[in-house]
Amino acid sequence: MALKPEIIVTSDSSELAQAAVRIFVKAAKDSVARRGCFSAAFSGGSTPRHMNRMLAQEPHCSSIAWGKTHIFWVDERCVSVNDPASNYGVARKDFLGQIPIPVDHVHPMPGEAVPEEGAKIYHNELKTFFRSIKGEFPAFDLILLGIGVDGHTASLFPATPSAALSKKWVVAVKGGTPDVHRLTLTYYILNQANNICFLVSGENKAPIVKAIFENKQARLPAQKVQPLNGRLTWLMDRQASSLLPPTLGVL
Ligand code: 6PG
Repeated sequence: MALKPEIIVTSDSSELAQAAVRIFVKAAKDSVARRGCFSAAFSGGSTPRHMNRMLAQEPHCSSIAWGKTHIFWVDERCVSVNDPASNYGVARKDFLGQIPIPVDHVHPMPGEAVPEEGAKIYHNELKTFFRSIKGEFPAFDLILLGIGVDGHTASLFPATPSAALSKKWVVAVKGGTPDVHRLTLTYYILNQANNICFLVSGENKAPIVKAIFENKQARLPAQKVQPLNGRLTWLMDRQASSLLPPTLGVL
């Protein structure tokens, strides 16, 4: 049965980035201690960028066993890696280029491939990776997600076709801002994760955060993220959580 989500509210976006780094470092240490390897899947968008840059800075950078870490993506826009909309391209500038991670431990989604083909390529890449760690089930150690003002998460939009609800691992979709073809992990694979953490910042997200927590009938994509056996954390700043009941403590 799904565990109750943990809600952490920080005073601002800078505290949010620091708390996110702590969650990342702890998940990395726990996973490496448990089974010698750490797999994390990153989202795009602006919210995680501060945290991502911090991962490349001390004291955090040297506290992470990058040689035992594998980085994947939750979603990607089907554009060239040099396009400012490329999630991998942005991550490369923000932190990947500055951390001592082996090249073959970075697994970008093939955003330059024909979308349907790209989904198959990434499915096979995930299959090979999870099989290589002793035939394990495709459970990421940590997945970092964001939400949009329409309740989307990853590239799973309210109007995303039902393929995203199937047992496929990766699907090609179109939509969002920018409105382009995209590759995204499905709910099926997201919900196998050991830890999922939503990062949400800013006042413009407050109405959708309220809908997610208080309108269970809304059937928003973010509400379909319910890890089967893993932990779910909502890390928000005060602005994003401002329409939730005041009982939530601020970190
Ligand atoms: C992407 C995403 C998407 C993102 C949200 C929040 O578009 O690549 O993965 O789901 O996380 O749209 O984006 P912001 O952090 O920019 O608000």
